[in-house]
Amino acid sequence: MPVGRLPLALATAAFCLSFLVLCFANPWTYDGYNWLRDDIPDASSLRSEAPQNALNKDDFSWDSISPSKDLIWHSCYLNKHCAKLKVPLDYKNSDASLASASIAMVRIHSNVSHESPSYRGPILFNPGGPGGSGVDSMLQRGALLSTIVGPEFDLIGFDPRGVGRSVPRVSIYKSRAERALRMAVDSRFISLNHSADSLARGWARGILDGQLAGERDDGNLRFINTDHTARDMLRIVEAHGLEKLQYWGFSYGTVLGATFAAMFPDKVGRLVIDGVVDSENYYTTDWSDGLIDTENAWMSFVNGCVAAGRQGCPFFAPTAAEILAKVDDLYASLRARPIPVNTELSSGLVDFSTLRSKIFLALYSPYATFPTLAQALADLSNGNGTALFTMRAEPAFECACDSSEYQFEEIIDAGGAIMCNDGKKISSKYEDLLAHYEEMSGDFKWADMWEQIRFTCLAWPDFPKDHFQGPFVANTSFPLLMVGNTADPVTPLWAAKKMSRGFAGSVVLTQDSPGHCSLAAPSICTQKHIRRYFLDGILPEPGTVCDVDGSIFPDPGTNNLEQQAQAILSVSAEDRNLMGTVWELAKSFDIRFPGYL
Ligand SMILES: *[C@@H]1O[C@H](CO)[C@@H](O)[C@H](O)[C@H]1NC(C)=O
Ligand SMILES: *[C@@H]1O[C@H](CO)[C@@H](O)[C@H](O)[C@H]1NC(C)=O
Ligand SMILES: *[C@@H]1O[C@H](CO)[C@@H](O)[C@H](O)[C@H]1NC(C)=O
Ligand SMILES: *[C@@H]1O[C@H](CO)[C@@H](O)[C@H](O)[C@H]1NC(C)=O
Repeated sequence: MPVGRLPLALATAAFCLSFLVLCFANPWTYDGYNWLRDDIPDASSLRSEAPQNALNKDDFSWDSISPSKDLIWHSCYLNKHCAKLKVPLDYKNSDASLASASIAMVRIHSNVSHESPSYRGPILFNPGGPGGSGVDSMLQRGALLSTIVGPEFDLIGFDPRGVGRSVPRVSIYKSRAERALRMAVDSRFISLNHSADSLARGWARGILDGQLAGERDDGNLRFINTDHTARDMLRIVEAHGLEKLQYWGFSYGTVLGATFAAMFPDKVGRLVIDGVVDSENYYTTDWSDGLIDTENAWMSFVNGCVAAGRQGCPFFAPTAAEILAKVDDLYASLRARPIPVNTELSSGLVDFSTLRSKIFLALYSPYATFPTLAQALADLSNGNGTALFTMRAEPAFECACDSSEYQFEEIIDAGGAIMCNDGKKISSKYEDLLAHYEEMSGDFKWADMWEQIRFTCLAWPDFPKDHFQGPFVANTSFPLLMVGNTADPVTPLWAAKKMSRGFAGSVVLTQDSPGHCSLAAPSICTQKHIRRYFLDGILPEPGTVCDVDGSIFPDPGTNNLEQQAQAILSVSAEDRNLMGTVWELAKSFDIRFPGYL
């Protein structure tokens, strides 16, 4: 969930224009529950991709569109469409109030005409976070997602209220520089096992976040929550002249999807939630059951490296126990002597926390990052920290940037606002936080990388909690499809099964893979089930388990070219196309940490 959010990196100036992806990969900001992000396995490879990604920046001016009550699409980003829909700021006082919010969205048009009988309407997406920008993720991943769901659908990515180009936009810092400096001085994404005072410092920082949020609230902060975003989604559906929602949400997007389904059960057309969060737990601000499978995800790296052999995995050792011992040696050695690293992009230290955080984040997207991680660990054993440092590295912050270029950037502040407004108020006492952390670290080995998410909520402004917070029980007008991986580091399969019990007729599709959300691993089987659900309304049989197509590390048994060629020829052209798509997504998939200031 919520670790580092990317925004800080965004702070990076003109550089960001061409390195948007890079910018997005801010390590401070891992986002617990977000995953449609560009992954940054290796900064050098980004350089060649940069010009393409530059298209994603706002070469189109969002200022040129005014929000309207009716849905008016404008051409943007080559062949896409953009709109801003005017919605009530406060749904509790929607008639009386003059104040409105505006929701920014981008659409990839279906490849059939809207008059064609095969046209199937829009699917809305949410990329997680909370606080992730659906517009950005659609610009980056829309073409690939369209290949999966098929040409009959429009795809719509929207920035939830509080985020990016939507208004009001949450911003707790006065400037990009202030945000960047605060993050640099007090990094959010360090291990709570970093030093003796890490937890106490994290607590104090969290209190400060809450104080700043209260002090700098322009009066709109209280209207940023998932209940209102669910209502906004219904408005988007109605503005299309439709009655029912079609939706695919990932990670935090599953909280949004489940909230919508529980609030408006008769408005569900098709609803896929993928990388399922236990929404009940989310609304308690406890964040206590995300890590059930984290160790399994980590062991999939360890065991995968053993199985790949010396040729396939640079960090190879003959047994899992030996690999784990080598990692423990690295932890101890970095505690004793952090390694200074200086690259073209930026410079800094590789220390205990760096190693913990890079490993933890790698678990989100094993197909994109495990091979790189194995090389980085091997280099680290030889005293070279460059490769590890470079994983998800972002350029150093430059103050001399034109702030108008960043007026729409997705920033971490929104994630904190959404989750703290959504969830139950928590105690701000250090002793209570300590007790919570001790319990979490007793249960989970990766609690040192997760507990931080809640800190922003410690002293969050005390708004009335009169929004929807459950129960997640409903007979929906169409059954939900839930997707869970067997070793998802932050949204365990257990949570998908738990949530499924509340929604009559819903089915859990299991993908037998590590990684956060289905797209983190290439599975034709999973994505065909998702397409069939959207297109034909067919749910998989309960208990269906999908395998993954291909392995993370080179498989010593099948590296013979003839075998590979035969495997490729044995599938249909359609499957080959889908195979390319799922691999491309898995290789570039990234999810953010949940929203933390
Ligand atoms: C869209 O339609 C055109 C023309 O029919 C076709 O050439 C193209 O391959 C289609 N694209 C997709 C993604 O289906
Ligand atoms: C902290 O890190 C050390 C290794 O340096 C490890 O032995 C210990 O179990 C960790 N403690 C927690 C609470 O994670
Ligand atoms: C460390 O590794 C990097 C590649 O990640 C390499 O370019 C560099 O030369 C290595 N440094 C030393 C001192 O070997
Ligand atoms: C769903 O439908 C069943 C059978 O009609 C009914 O017993 C149950 O109370 C309904 N649940 C909800 C939440 O409406």
